[in-house]
Amino acid sequence: MENTASQQLKAQQQQLTETTLGTLFKQDNQRAQRFFLSVGELHFDYSKNFITDKVINSLAALAAEKNLAPAISSLFAGEKVNNTEQRAALHSALRAPANHSAISQLVQGALDKMEVFIEKLHQRTWLGFNNKPIETVINIGIGGSDLGPRMVTQALSAYHHTSVNVLFVANIDGADLEDTLRRLNPDTTLFIVASKTFTTLETLHNALSAREWVQNAGCTKEDLHKHFVGISANIDAAKTFGIAEENIFPMWDWVGGRYSLWSAIGLPVAAAIGMSHFRDLLAGAHLMADHFKSAPFEQNMPVLAALLSYWYSHFWGVTSQAVLPYAQRLSRLPAYLQQLDMESLGKRATKQGDAVAYPTGLVIWGTEGTNGQHSFHQLLHQGTQLVPVDFIAVKAPMSHYGDQHRQLLACCISQAQALLQGKTLAEAQNELKAQGLSDAEVATLAPHKVIPGNKPSNMLIMDKLSPANLGTLIAFYENKVYASSILLNINAFDQWGVELGKQLGKPIYTALLTGESDTSWDGSTLTLIEKMKR
Ligand code: F6P
Repeated sequence: MENTASQQLKAQQQQLTETTLGTLFKQDNQRAQRFFLSVGELHFDYSKNFITDKVINSLAALAAEKNLAPAISSLFAGEKVNNTEQRAALHSALRAPANHSAISQLVQGALDKMEVFIEKLHQRTWLGFNNKPIETVINIGIGGSDLGPRMVTQALSAYHHTSVNVLFVANIDGADLEDTLRRLNPDTTLFIVASKTFTTLETLHNALSAREWVQNAGCTKEDLHKHFVGISANIDAAKTFGIAEENIFPMWDWVGGRYSLWSAIGLPVAAAIGMSHFRDLLAGAHLMADHFKSAPFEQNMPVLAALLSYWYSHFWGVTSQAVLPYAQRLSRLPAYLQQLDMESLGKRATKQGDAVAYPTGLVIWGTEGTNGQHSFHQLLHQGTQLVPVDFIAVKAPMSHYGDQHRQLLACCISQAQALLQGKTLAEAQNELKAQGLSDAEVATLAPHKVIPGNKPSNMLIMDKLSPANLGTLIAFYENKVYASSILLNINAFDQWGVELGKQLGKPIYTALLTGESDTSWDGSTLTLIEKMKR
């Protein structure tokens, strides 16, 4: 039987299909002010959504029915919210001020260890096997051990320390490592091997190849510790691989891979921007966590964002959501959010293990503006699918080309406006007439120029692209994902779906190597192996 909030929402959705977003703005000249929230220097304009006060009330009632408030308390209390792996998800403790919780000591100990390492790097006193200072740091990791640190490092390039260059290698495709190493000197390069489990195929292979590269340049086994540090929850495996114990930075089972950039997994970020800025990043995230914990649902930024995604996927048939950061330095944000959101919410079973009877995670996609405008925005404006958009804008210029920044902001705001207002047939006809086209030409062309509009979007605005504000933005999405998982009654912290491919890959690798396939495999797989083996 359906619950009350859902019934209300169904009726409200019906009513809203009879009006337009443009009309809602005309009816309420305070709408843009009312549906607007700020946390620190992050602002959330959610006025261009199919919402009214009644819808917000019903959505908040839905969140209450789904027991979101106790679920938020359980998360921060360190309860085993990851029920299939019997683990807590305490990434928020990594950002909390010192002495905040029982695990503060562990967290501060890791930060202190990072600080010592980063100081040596930046003071150029960490020397390689030829006694030259390290100039390049390469993070070898994949998934959560790559996407977050890589995205943040790129986003904060304005804060980069001049003494080291930080690069990333993730793919098992050797071309990733080879292309990265091409112009580098082994004696001034240090590798961070980042893997929570220290069992990940890609990371172990790349680390072995990197070790060979350093050794081939003359580094002895005894000096390898000058070129390799590790981050892992599996200390034994890291040691077995050959990382010196004093060079291993800790991870814990209560931090999920895609939530780990705040831990020592953030070491490449700290290498790039320094510990002080890294701590600012953590503080910015903590600010959002405090807001998430305490604000009423109707004014809670991550909760509202989660409710809006739920509203669109459960009541409006939406299956994907675009994230469009209007900032070149945030070009990796969509890729980061794909893991965060889709690995967390792409689930088929409820927390209790029953098959879900409703849509779960949305497809998250996007790219940086304005590049996307010259690519897929056509589908956003005139395609037949409804795709809600998160625009992300930064108020302060991110380069010395101030007027280009104004142009960038104009493009961002106008894309959201175009999605909202569209272009009617009459407007298209008048435009073409004004251009001097004949009546026949106008009749032929005008229908192609119609843009329906009435497409929802959020606008997230950062005052500037600073470490603290970026922390706040990332924590906004993290908390949104957790709130979504509660609305959907799924576990946001496991990822069993990725395991099957890994299992099947092993015997296929052997078949490619030896030429011996398992004849019980399907015909397509057997044929592909036959065609691809050397
Ligand atoms: O295969 C998926 C995954 O388990 C992610 O969840 C994780 O972030 C990534 O692999 C890397 O894992 P690790 O840090 O253990 O190498």
